[in-house]
Order: sequence, then structure tokens, then C-alpha cells
Amino acid sequence: MEKMSLKELAVPMIKAIDSFNFLLKSHHRRTAVISYYIGKELHLKDDELTDLVLAAALHDIGALSVQEKKCLIEEDVLRPSPHCLMGCKMLSSFDAFGNIARIIKHHHVKYEESRQVEEGEILFQSHIVHLADRCDILVNPDLFILNQKKKVVEKIREKSGTLFHPRVFRAFEQVAKKDIFWIEINYLTMDQLFRRIDFSIDYELSVEKLVDFARTISRIIDFRSRFTASHSYTVAHLAYLISGYFGFSEERRTKMMIAGYLHDIGKLGVDPALIEKEGGLTDEEFNLVKLHTYFTSQILSELSSSVWFHEIVLWAERHHEKSDGSGYPFALDDSSLDEGVKILAFSDIISALMEERPYRKGMPSEEAFDLIGNMLADRLSPEMFVEIDNHRDEIEDMVKQCYAHSFEEYYSGRS
Ligand SMILES: [Fe+2]
Ligand SMILES: [Fe+2]
Ligand SMILES: [Fe+2]
Repeated sequence: MEKMSLKELAVPMIKAIDSFNFLLKSHHRRTAVISYYIGKELHLKDDELTDLVLAAALHDIGALSVQEKKCLIEEDVLRPSPHCLMGCKMLSSFDAFGNIARIIKHHHVKYEESRQVEEGEILFQSHIVHLADRCDILVNPDLFILNQKKKVVEKIREKSGTLFHPRVFRAFEQVAKKDIFWIEINYLTMDQLFRRIDFSIDYELSVEKLVDFARTISRIIDFRSRFTASHSYTVAHLAYLISGYFGFSEERRTKMMIAGYLHDIGKLGVDPALIEKEGGLTDEEFNLVKLHTYFTSQILSELSSSVWFHEIVLWAERHHEKSDGSGYPFALDDSSLDEGVKILAFSDIISALMEERPYRKGMPSEEAFDLIGNMLADRLSPEMFVEIDNHRDEIEDMVKQCYAHSFEEYYSGRS
């Protein structure tokens, strides 16, 4: 396999999590820029700076529901810990992100309270992300940033020593004297920022690490709502299982699994309120949800120059296409859809039907398979469906296992 480094894989994902973020547009990028400036001023070592910038660029990923995200925008976060714990939980399964997960876990700890916590428990970068986060919230996006310098610094000064670490505040005060700091909060792109850091945790990824990373990303997508908490995880495991029935090699089965984990990454760009909506979607709302396949395609296109990833990207971006050309977004016909896409599409439908929705219970497998057989199999591949249907019991077991595993993780991260 040709090599892909962690940086090549992580940067497009982190950029996507920020720029496609429906509710907190650019907040991660801006907090990362502020953190970078403070970290530089404090002469953090390369590895500490890498962890700081990545943690800042991901710090609110644990804020899942609309409600949680709204309360983050308010100035004083009253009950911050669930989103900190969840963010930590989501990332800690990927070992290179261990420190990043810890920084996120404590990014709302007040300086005066941090001294009661055991020494070494809180990484210093948590204090930087804390101040950077509040700095961004204090900037009014409707007013030109350079006209707000004084007011923002004064507001933060009031809480130095209580909310904020005094050393972090002093570094912030220094960088805040320079216009370039404020200008770059608005204009520095995530790409430009990542080019400035050494990315000290970069290394060539093994296939196992690729799978681990894709699983970590899938949690960010799935855990936005309890109704989808197992979705990509289940699709990944079904795609791996079902591709075995069609003689796929172990390597291609693993690629199917990664495609399953990433196929709905574009949902990050869709309003989570639509996923939680009771009573089903209107046609207009469904059209908005359909956009997610286009976003998936955009996000993953940065990986498609890698020969190893090429197939994964094609499968993921085509998972709602149909053989008769009635799918979206490309309206491809059968000649463009290989077995891999169809396996992913079947896995997606099985998982979706058996999941609970705000407006209905999860379907028993009998009902789900009958419905697919009657309404959908013809538009994908009736022959393939016969083979899949032969393994109904095994598939049902797999769905149940995936549910049990995902919900345990979902609820344990929230307590
Ligand atoms: Fe934040
Ligand atoms: Fe989808
Ligand atoms: Fe899906």
C-alpha cells in the first residue's frame, strides 16, 4: 500500500469539521489561530504547539445537539462538562490524539479551581484553549475586529487569575498589541495555519491506524444525535461483512469498512435539527439533507489523489446513487456503480431502517428486509439482494452487536 501520513489524512477532516460545521461556523479555526499565537508567545515546544493547535481546532466536537451548541455561544458556559467529556471520549480512541483529548477534556476548567485538581492532570494547553475560546466569543462578528481590541482585552483582564491562567493572560496581552494577531483571526485559513506548525505527531499510517482514525471521525458524525449514534459504525461493519459474501479480498473489505465510517461525513454540513425532527421531513427539508452526499464528495476529494483511497472516495460519495439513474447527487446509471457501491448502499439502508427515528421505532429485520426486497432491491441489484438476504440472521446479529457497542459508548461519554 502506498503510504499516507496522519497529517495528509487529518488536515482535510479537521478543516471539514470546521468549515462544514452548521452551527459554529469558523469558531474552531478562529480559536486555533488565537491559541497558536499565545502558544508561540509562550515558546511552547513543537509537540506541545501541535497538540495545542489541533485541540483548539477540534475543541467543541463534543457539543452535539443544537441545544448544547447554542449554550456554548453564550459568554458563561454554565454546564460545560458534558461536551468536554464527550469530545475527550471521541478522540481518545485514536492514540496519537491522546494529549489532544486531554486538553479538550479540561478546556473549561477555571484557573482558580484547577489548583484543586491533582498536579499533572490538567495540561497547560487547556488554559490556553479556554482563554482563546472566550476571546473568540467576545469578538462581535458584525463589527470590524480591529475596533474591538481594547474591549476584548479588558473583558478578559477582569477574569485573569480567576477564570484564566495569569501566564496565559500575559501572553495574550502581548500578542493582542499587534494588529496582525486580530487580522489573522479573521483571515488565516486552516491550511495556512497547519503549514506554520511542525505537526510533530505526523507519521505514516498503517492500515489499522487508518481504520482507527476513520472510526474516530465516524463518532463525530454519529454522536450528533442519539438517533444516528450507531449509524456509520453499523454501516462500516455491515459493509465489511457483506463484502465477504461477494469474495472481496481482506484489503478491499477493510476499504469497505473505512467507506462505511466516512460515507456520511457530509452530514456535518446539515442542520442537526433536521436529524432530530419529529414527524418526518418535508420535501424542502429532505432536499437539504440530500446535500450531505455532495459535501461528503467535497470533503473526501482531497484524499482521492491517493490510489489506495480512490475507491473508498468513489463508494462513499455514491452511496445514494441507484442503477436506474434516480439517485443523487450525480444521477449515475448502472454502468458507473460497481459492487462496492451497491454493498455500501445496501448496508446504509439496512442500518437506517433498523435504527430508531424521532418519528418511528427501529424496524425488526424481517420488515426491513421485506421492504428493501419490495421497494429498493430492483434499483440497486436484485441478484445481490438475494445473496444478502441469504445471510439475514448473521446481518441482524451484526446490527445488534453494533448497536449495543455504540450506545454503550454514546451514553458513557455523556455521563
Ligand atoms: Fe468553543
Ligand atoms: Fe447518506
Ligand atoms: Fe448513511
